[in-house]
This record gives sequence, C-alpha cells and structure tokens, in this order.
Amino acid sequence: MTSAPSPANASANGLAMAPPSIAKPHIMAITSGKGGVGKTFVSANLAAALARNGRRVLVLDADLGLANLDVVLNLFPKITLHDVFTGKATLPEAVLPAPGGFYVLLAGSGMVEYSRMTPEVREKLQQVIDEVAPRFDHVLLDTGAGISEVVLYTVSLAGQVLVVVTPEPTSLTDAYATIKVLATTQGRRHIRLLVNQTRRAGEGRAVRQQLQQVVDRYVNPTLDSPVRLELLGEVPTDPAVRDAVLRRQLLLEILPGTPPALALLSVAQRMLVP
Ligand SMILES: Nc1ncnc2c1ncn2[C@@H]1O[C@H](COP(=O)(O)OP(=O)(O)OP(=O)(O)O)[C@@H](O)[C@H]1O
Ligand SMILES: [Mg+2]
Repeated sequence: MTSAPSPANASANGLAMAPPSIAKPHIMAITSGKGGVGKTFVSANLAAALARNGRRVLVLDADLGLANLDVVLNLFPKITLHDVFTGKATLPEAVLPAPGGFYVLLAGSGMVEYSRMTPEVREKLQQVIDEVAPRFDHVLLDTGAGISEVVLYTVSLAGQVLVVVTPEPTSLTDAYATIKVLATTQGRRHIRLLVNQTRRAGEGRAVRQQLQQVVDRYVNPTLDSPVRLELLGEVPTDPAVRDAVLRRQLLLEILPGTPPALALLSVAQRMLVP
C-alpha cells in the first residue's frame, strides 16, 4: 500500500473500505470483536501510563452511540463532541483535562443519534481528529465493539489498531472476525493485540499464537501480503480493576502497584519505542 486516500474521500457505499491513514501512526484505535472486554479501561489507564512518561495524550470517546468514558473517569462534561458537531462549542473548548494527566474528547450520553453515522457525521469526526491530532503525541480512539459500519469507520481514522481480546473462546472468535475484516477491507497488515483478563503468565503469547495460526491458515492465503499480529502486552484479571471502575477512578491513580497497573505501564513503555 503506497497511498492512503482519506476515508472521507472514499466512495459513498465503501466507507468501511477506506485504507488506514499511514500518515497518522500516533492515532491508535482501541477496538475489539466482543464487547465488554476492557477497551475503555485500557484506553483510560494506558493514556495515564503514557502521560506518566511525559507524553501528551488525548483519548477520544469514539463509541459515539454508547459513550461511557466520562462515567469511567467520573467526569460530568458540559461540552461534548455533540456541541462541536453542532457548532455550539469550539474544539479547544471540548478538549478537557482528565485525571491521570491526559486529555479527553467526550461523546457524552446524548449522542444516540450517532449510532448510525451519516456522511456528514463521518466528515465532522474526521475533521475533529485531523484538527486535534497534531497537538498530541498519542491519540487513542476508544471505539465500540464488533464489525458494524460505525466501528469500522472510526477504526479507519487511525493509523494503528489495537485489538483487545480476552482468552475466552467467544472473545477469540470475535477478535478473529475483526482482524479478518480489518485486513480485507482496510488493508491492515500489522495489527496489535492486547490480551486482557489473563489468568496465568504467558497466556497472552498463547492467544497471539493461536490467532496468528488461524489468520495464517484462513486469511493470509487470500491476501497479497500476510497479516502480522503483534502482542503489545497482557493484562491479568484482578479484582482491583473492578474496584477502580466501581469507584470511577483510574487504576493507575488509586492502585498503581497492582499487577494490571504494572502491565499497562509496560505496554506504554513498549509504545514509546519507535
Ligand atoms: N483485567 C481485568 N481484570 C478484572 N476485570 C476487568 C479487567 N478488565 C476489564 N475488567 C472488567 O470488565 C468491565 C468492562 O470493561 P470496559 O468497560 O473497559 O469494557 P469495554 O470493552 O470498553 O466494553 P464496551 O464494549 O461495552 O465498550 C470493567 O468494568 C471491569 O469490571
Ligand atoms: Mg467501552
């Protein structure tokens, strides 16, 4: 892939076909096949881990229809993406500081109308990302789960993609479906994995290997070049995560020494290596 046409310029019926923008390697979509695997938890705490390393980080709540980053961070935003889309607020006004030393652009809960994206909303979202991205070292898009057109469109706005997967068979099967669709419709050849809720050390490697084997067998033979899955890290299951979510606080802030917090700090370290 040598050129990367802008998703907004893709044909009307083929928006999900837009190849990822290779010019935006610092924009990373955090997505998953199955829902509820930990994308929002990972997005927020990974952002805090990157910020702790001196990086300027923005998390955009890209799950427009079912946004809940504000709930996890205990924020009550007066200004959301909706206000930017409707011209009621400017983009700088909507970029809010979050606990943990990073910034957020929140969708808020009033964005049900965006569960089906019109071409207008697609264009606005892309404009927002284009405008805000140069001001940050990392932009994380916390997307919805699955392979709906909305999810695939938001993922297409990122140069990198991180698929969150748990070792559960249903999560693995759904992650495979996501990887296959991203490879075939967006030309993705390098996909990062974060294996969440592991129960023993090394389970992340086993999950990556299992998924790579299936991709090698069923997807790669159909492509011009093979898809490579990279394990960015594994995060163990720990009751501390649920406690932090229930208290609406960042795990990295309230329990930074716990195994999942340390695991996310090492994922951040890996992201700092060019
Ligand atoms: N490593 C972990 N250990 C224990 N519990 C976890 C872990 N990761 C996530 N969870 C639990 O899973 C719940 C769901 O996480 P989260 O909301 O981040 O998932 P999601 O993928 O963003 O969901 P959705 O698809 O609905 O957006 C958390 O509230 C937490 O209780
Ligand atoms: Mg979520």
